[in-house]
Amino acid sequence: MAAEQQHWDGIYGQRAEDALTWFEAVPSVSLGLVRAHLGPGEAFIDIGGGASRLVDALIELGLGPLSVLDISGAALKVSKKRLGARAQDVTWIDTDLTKWQPDRDYALWHDRAVFHFLTKADDRAAYARAMTTALGPHGTAIIATFAEDGPQMCSGLPVVRYSPESLAAELDRLHPGLFDLIDSKYHTHTTPKGNGQRFQYSVFRKKTP
Ligand SMILES: C[S@@+](CC[C@H](N)C(=O)[O-])C[C@H]1O[C@@H](n2cnc3c(N)ncnc32)[C@H](O)[C@@H]1O
Repeated sequence: MAAEQQHWDGIYGQRAEDALTWFEAVPSVSLGLVRAHLGPGEAFIDIGGGASRLVDALIELGLGPLSVLDISGAALKVSKKRLGARAQDVTWIDTDLTKWQPDRDYALWHDRAVFHFLTKADDRAAYARAMTTALGPHGTAIIATFAEDGPQMCSGLPVVRYSPESLAAELDRLHPGLFDLIDSKYHTHTTPKGNGQRFQYSVFRKKTP
């Protein structure tokens, strides 16, 4: 088992879903952005969705087809158990996104707190490659990371912090001219222990000639 997978399976195995620092009972910022950018019948993927309850809310809204990808099978198991029979409405992809070859188009890519763990340039390039392949014509990507004044570590791992502008610059460096930053917002997430964590959410539209 790869070290990263072992790390994340260990994290999800040790603590309850609602005790993890990134837990949101209602992922309201993501939900607002997804509702703004996903039309009926359009395909959605939550990248590094882990045990997030975003997919629950999207099933409830009748959106999809829905997919959730994560390196941790343990995390996906938490979501599947919580959803019960409704888990069948979701495609679960248990893989490392940096090695993933998408086999269909998605209209909307959502990532909350995953890209910021990619501290190696090669991994960021692999992420951008997967995103570019996965997004269909005029596809949209929502990428939420710790902001410039957010935490420097998460779950014992270092992170790279971004502003919407520095994230747009990094994507532009990886795929020049391919993504337009069309919206962004800042949000302070309150952890289960009551600490504030500053996030930025950026929305990118893939340019299609
Ligand atoms: C901080 S958690 C955020 C989970 C979820 N997005 C949320 O908002 O609740 C980061 C997630 O990214 C996943 N992850 C980390 N590296 C990954 C990779 N290379 N490929 C796929 N998933 C990854 C972890 O397993 C974990 O579920």
